[in-house]
Amino acid sequence: MGLRTYIRENFIEDIKPYKPKHFSKPEKMLEIVSAWKGLELIIADIIDQFDLKKERCIEFGVEFGYSAVVFSNYFKNVTGVDTFEGDIHTVNKNEHFEETSRRLAPYTNIQLVKSDYKDWIATDDQRYNLAHVDIVHNYNETFECGLWAAQHSDCTIFHDTESFPEVRRAVKDLAKKTGHKLYNYPQHHGLGILVARKR
Ligand SMILES: C[S@@+](CC[C@H](N)C(=O)[O-])C[C@H]1O[C@@H](n2cnc3c(N)ncnc32)[C@H](O)[C@@H]1O
Repeated sequence: MGLRTYIRENFIEDIKPYKPKHFSKPEKMLEIVSAWKGLELIIADIIDQFDLKKERCIEFGVEFGYSAVVFSNYFKNVTGVDTFEGDIHTVNKNEHFEETSRRLAPYTNIQLVKSDYKDWIATDDQRYNLAHVDIVHNYNETFECGLWAAQHSDCTIFHDTESFPEVRRAVKDLAKKTGHKLYNYPQHHGLGILVARKR
């Protein structure tokens, strides 16, 4: 392969730094520990900058519900998919679906589903305005779940692009595969933002 062909086939636009125009704290929030803390300040900004509708949001990787509750401030319906059993990267590995369902019960626009993302994406054909991927931080899972999310939403965000190189690599490859625009917000362990160009 010549150098030109190599560059054409492997070129990825540099990730653009995401620059929030305004920070705003959502009204409803959970007072629990989460590595996601801090990102709640830029969700309204992301919705504004990419002109997202606020009907439907899907989250893969709910754990105790910190980010799901943040999304519930902005979207009419939030679907949260998780095994609720933890993974190799989470501290908690105990099953907690009932407990988390009770904690999130006051947020009536959140629907929690106890499922592996693989089973969910095999049957769901709906479209979402925003998708959030924050499952086990391996390349294959992030790529597979992220590809479905990018193909079924206007904007997909990925947590831990700074703290997990495999997440960052998967997100870059997804941008290359889908042709979506890629931004990265480096704070709070990193948030990758994939935006469909034509919506
Ligand atoms: C980093 S935590 C999510 C944190 C959460 N977004 C928050 O706001 O704190 C990752 C979660 O992904 C879930 N998870 C990991 N692999 C999964 C899979 N294959 N399908 C569904 N959920 C998965 C784990 O059970 C865990 O609750």
